[in-house]
Amino acid sequence: MLEMQNVGLSLDGENGKVQILNDINLTFEKNKIYVVTGPNGGGKSSIAKTIMGIYPASTGKIILDGEDITNKTITERARLGIGYAFQQPPRFKGMKVRDMLELASGSNNKADLCDLLYDVGLCAQDYLEREINASFSGGELKRIEIASILARNLKVAVFDEPEAGIDLWSFQKLTETFINLNQKYNTAIVIISHQERILRLADQVVLVAEGRIEEITSREKFLAEIERIESDCECKNNCTIIGGKADAECDR
Ligand SMILES: Nc1ncnc2c1ncn2[C@@H]1O[C@H](COP(=O)(O)OP(=O)(O)OP(=O)(O)O)[C@@H](O)[C@H]1O
Ligand SMILES: [Mg+2]
Repeated sequence: MLEMQNVGLSLDGENGKVQILNDINLTFEKNKIYVVTGPNGGGKSSIAKTIMGIYPASTGKIILDGEDITNKTITERARLGIGYAFQQPPRFKGMKVRDMLELASGSNNKADLCDLLYDVGLCAQDYLEREINASFSGGELKRIEIASILARNLKVAVFDEPEAGIDLWSFQKLTETFINLNQKYNTAIVIISHQERILRLADQVVLVAEGRIEEITSREKFLAEIERIESDCECKNNCTIIGGKADAECDR
C-alpha cells in the first residue's frame, strides 16, 4: 500500500518558486485500480513524478508498506517496486526492444517477452529484435514502455495517459491487459487518464485540479456525474429543439 500524506510540491520556475501540488492525501491499495483525472495542467503527472521520486516532495511524506520513502531516490523506489510509464516516453537509444523487456522482466525467455508485446497489441516478430530509435512511432514507443512496466511484478504501477496516441484496437487490448494485471499480481494500479473507457475500470476515481485533490469518488458516482453534465449540455438542449449538427458534438 502506498500513502501520500499531506504532500506538497514546489518547483523552481522561470520567475522563482512555483507551487505545483498542495496537501495531497491519497492511499493506493494493492489489487485496486485508481484512475486519476482532471483538467490539463491540474497536477496529475506531477503526482506521478512525486511518487516515483522524479520530483522530490517539498512537504509531507510518502509511505510504502509502512516504510517512509520520502527521501529515497528514483532507483531505490524502483527497487522497492514502484514503476512509472511516462506520458511522453523517453527513447532508449541503442537498445533493442528485447533488451529493454529482458531488463524489466529479468527473463530472457522468448515466449515471456512475446506475451508482453502481445498484451500491448504488438506483434513480437516485428518488434523484438528492432532497435529503439527515432523510427518508432509515438504509439509504438508508448506501448513498448507500457510493456516494460507490465513486465515487472510491481507494488505500485503508474501509467500516465496510456491511451495517448494509441489506436482503437490496441486500446481495447490495453484495457483487457490492465484488468488481467489487476487479477494476476498484487499491484496497486494508478492510471492517469481522460478516457471514459479507462474510467470504467476504476475502483476509485481521483479528481485533481489546480494542484489539489478535488474529489475522490466511486466509478459509478463519477460516471453518473459525467452523464448529468452531458445531459445538461446547453448546445445539446438547443439542438434537440432545432435539430442541428451540434447535437452530435455534445453526444461525446
Ligand atoms: N518542472 C516544472 N517546472 C515548472 N512548472 C512545472 C514543472 N512541471 C510541471 N509544472 C507545472 O505544473 C502544473 C501541473 O503540471 P502537470 O504536468 O502535473 O499537469 P497534468 O495534470 O499532468 O496535465 P496534462 O493533463 O496536460 O498532462 C502545470 O501548470 C505545469 O506547467
Ligand atoms: Mg500529464
